Amino acid sequence: MSEFKATSISPVGPFFSPMVQGYWRLDDWQMTPQQRLSFLKAHIDLGITTVDHADIYGDYRCETLFGQALKLEPSVRDDIQVVSKCDINLVSEAAPNRKINHYDTSYRHILASVDNSLSRLGVEKLDVLLLHRPDALMDADEVAEALTTLRHHGKVAHFGVSNFTPSQFDLLQSRWDESLVTNQVEINPLRFDVVHDGTLDQLQRLRIKPMAWSCLAGGEMFNGESEQAVRVRDTLHAIGEELGGATIDQVIYAWVMRHPSQPLPIIGSGNIERVKAAKAAYDLNLTREQWYRIWVASKGHNVP
Ligand SMILES: NC(=O)c1ccc[n+]([C@@H]2O[C@H](COP(=O)([O-])OP(=O)(O)OC[C@H]3O[C@@H](n4cnc5c(N)ncnc54)[C@H](OP(=O)(O)O)[C@@H]3O)[C@@H](O)[C@H]2O)c1
Repeated sequence: MSEFKATSISPVGPFFSPMVQGYWRLDDWQMTPQQRLSFLKAHIDLGITTVDHADIYGDYRCETLFGQALKLEPSVRDDIQVVSKCDINLVSEAAPNRKINHYDTSYRHILASVDNSLSRLGVEKLDVLLLHRPDALMDADEVAEALTTLRHHGKVAHFGVSNFTPSQFDLLQSRWDESLVTNQVEINPLRFDVVHDGTLDQLQRLRIKPMAWSCLAGGEMFNGESEQAVRVRDTLHAIGEELGGATIDQVIYAWVMRHPSQPLPIIGSGNIERVKAAKAAYDLNLTREQWYRIWVASKGHNVP
């Protein structure tokens, strides 16, 4: 594989590191602000400079925890690319009047959510804002208006989506003059519908790189007891041996990155040794047969 260096995620940028650090679980890591800063600087040193957030992570706490760390050394902001998301409204102490989880892509909500994210993270601009989940009530004209305002005020550099179907992606793109820059989707050996439902085909056609979430199925790859999980784990172990002792997480990252749409895996671990191991997977090359053995182990049957 090529050198581990920043790559443009769409024909109009931005440049991201080939793997991304996810901060969904930051609140669980129980780190002091100094430890959070050390972790951030350690993965930057590895070349993993893009960080993935969302307003809702940690019940609306993770962006603040990250911002506290950044405040200890504000110049680190210049070394990273910050992604955050909006549009999921969670029932939370942070929103006492809310009765039910729902989605909101209204102009007002998008603008307010970005202001909150900027203030919690302590940054002036997001490199990329994603709509987190498709909203059945999305009015694409209204969203485009919100993106235009955010762009005009210099609060967001680029826009993308997450968990969108190709037609939802097309709808929003039809109203937005600039290119959406990614679709962040789930890709792991237990769940890879996007390989077959047209999502990755669309991105490959548009030369837009997907961001891949929960590549390790949220840890289920290590401890899942379903027949599928056991079959896949056995296959990953076998392939890891063939690759000279690669661990199963490394084989999974290599499997995700082997797809020609060039997904950028988002690493979910708060353990820097595991982040280092993930990065090393960038140098692993799976053969087609190895890639399909994982497919077969997951589906439980041979290809048609
Ligand atoms: N757009 C979306 O809808 C969406 C949805 C979910 C996630 N995301 C993004 O994707 C990122 C990654 O998702 P994820 O956290 O679910 O990723 P993941 O890599 O599938 O799961 C991470 C979990 O696996 C554990 N783990 C990692 N290596 C392990 C090992 N060798 N043995 C046992 N456990 C291990 C980690 O624990 P340790 O920390 O102890 O290593 C952590 O709890 C998130 O941070 C977020 O940024 C986006």
